[in-house]
Amino acid sequence: MYTRIVFPSDSTYAECAEIIKNDGIVAFPTETVYGLGANATSDKAVKEIFTAKGRPSDNPIIVHIADKKDIYNIAEDISPVAEKLIKKFMPGAITLVFKKKPCISDIVSAGLDTVGVRIPSSIIARNFIKACGVPIAAPSANTSSRPSPTQAIHVYEDLKDKVPVIIDGGSCEIGIESTVVDVTGDIPVILRPGKITLKDIIEVCGCGSISESLTSDKVKSPGVKYKHYAPICDAVLVKGSAGFFNKLYTKYLQQKRNPIILCYEDTAKKLGDINIISLGDSDEQAAAKLYGALRLAEKQADIILIESAKGDGIGASLMNRMRKSAGGNIIEEKL
Ligand code: TXA
Ligand code: MG
Repeated sequence: MYTRIVFPSDSTYAECAEIIKNDGIVAFPTETVYGLGANATSDKAVKEIFTAKGRPSDNPIIVHIADKKDIYNIAEDISPVAEKLIKKFMPGAITLVFKKKPCISDIVSAGLDTVGVRIPSSIIARNFIKACGVPIAAPSANTSSRPSPTQAIHVYEDLKDKVPVIIDGGSCEIGIESTVVDVTGDIPVILRPGKITLKDIIEVCGCGSISESLTSDKVKSPGVKYKHYAPICDAVLVKGSAGFFNKLYTKYLQQKRNPIILCYEDTAKKLGDINIISLGDSDEQAAAKLYGALRLAEKQADIILIESAKGDGIGASLMNRMRKSAGGNIIEEKL
């Protein structure tokens, strides 16, 4: 299969809708990361996603819609607490897990009786979904276990010859995936952290919690247990000063390794003339840059040193991604 990268336009949307209607797959941008979409009501179409990504079949896929009213066609038992989250955060970088209606393919939900629903704020994503006229199942458009794509070229790197069309919407604004929140119980439970935080959720609902799967080994969101966001080379998460980065860098050079540092601007300024990719000034900027920086770094180095995120809020969610990218390898400066 030949893969084309196309720019958004009415004719692009019409062409993509035709592919989706014929049980094909299309990669499209959202404000978080690029998604790999298929008709969520078709088993055949959804299987194509699993094949293209090499995704484990027990990992459920988020269903994307363009309008709030469509939630009620695919989900059931929508609680008052869930209604508050819908009102406040949709469209946006949140996925709400509801009890699912039968029209959604069981392959989408990996056999669970729930469905994750997201309404992207990206106009390109919503125009694409509207043109298709069906709910769109879409995981991130990377090969399973790789960093999520935040530019069309990242999708191309992973899925060349596996997807006919990639809609190029430029760089994704947020850069890490949506906050996944289980709203099937009385209290909303965060299954995957993202830009929308527990604090934001408690402010709106008066209650909320974080899944044990994020703090212990018990798995609630099936996807959380797999290797994720990983570059092809080694990576470590480093908590320490610029001086500590310098020491580590030198140590790896002495070991005949080829290190590169992904760090914030203030650290970069203190490091001098060594191999660095900047993550910008803030956790927001670093979230937008992290996956692209990992993809760039793995082409130039054999070990990536990632500076840990600065704060809480999106910083805490970014740390979750950084920790996973590093496969849990953490080096901390002893002061
Ligand atoms: O920002 C995003 O969420 C992006 C864009 C494309 O929308 N999508 C994305 O999808 O990150 P994916 O498949 O890479 O991650 C979906 C996460 C996985 O951890 C999966 O296990 C969880 O959401 N999930 C999906 N449906 C679920 C369900 N019914 N119950 C529990 N967890 C669910
Ligand atoms: Mg993913």
